[in-house]
Amino acid sequence: MPDPYLAANFLHFFAVILMVNANIINGLIHGQAKVSTPLEASTLLNAVLLTNRLIMGPSLLIIPLSGYWLMTLTGYELTESWLFISVALSTLLIATYLLGLRLERRLHSIANRSATFQDSILPIEYNRTFLKAAPIGFGALLVSLAAFSLMIFKPF
Ligand code: HEM
Repeated sequence: MPDPYLAANFLHFFAVILMVNANIINGLIHGQAKVSTPLEASTLLNAVLLTNRLIMGPSLLIIPLSGYWLMTLTGYELTESWLFISVALSTLLIATYLLGLRLERRLHSIANRSATFQDSILPIEYNRTFLKAAPIGFGALLVSLAAFSLMIFKPF
């Protein structure tokens, strides 16, 4: 029987690693999709949506659940500022995920429509939507890094 603290910490840490990696990989795929043909972009965005569904979404569910489990095991409470701020940042992360998902679905449907018409390049609408989605993805990465630092260093 594994030590519950180690099991909870493993689950928490593993979900954080998956979420941060999925965010970075999605960003790289987006960069590639932006300069691709509509057909290629549609396939690449399929991979992004799959990563969101199979990795990012479940990780964002496991992080608060395992975090709560850790709280019950360690006795840390929300009166600790580092923990309170991290919980607020986690809520922000879930909000950016849902917002980003909407924009990524829109990007996918724009690329799909363009591919159906056999266009050779992505329409301006794609770039406009991409410019809204990019800061959300980058912001989510910064928020993750801030929460990560707070959890490790517990500065206050
Ligand atoms: C609802 C949200 C969260 C709660 C309730 C929560 C709670 C906790 C608790 C109680 C610990 C144990 C601290 C210890 O044993 O020293 C912990 C560890 C940790 N958390 Fe969170 N957490 C949350 C979100 C996050 C997020 C969003 C990240 C990063 C993106 C994160 C990264 C970490 C890491 C890396 C550790 C291990 C720290 C260590 O072992 O020194 N957590 N978390």
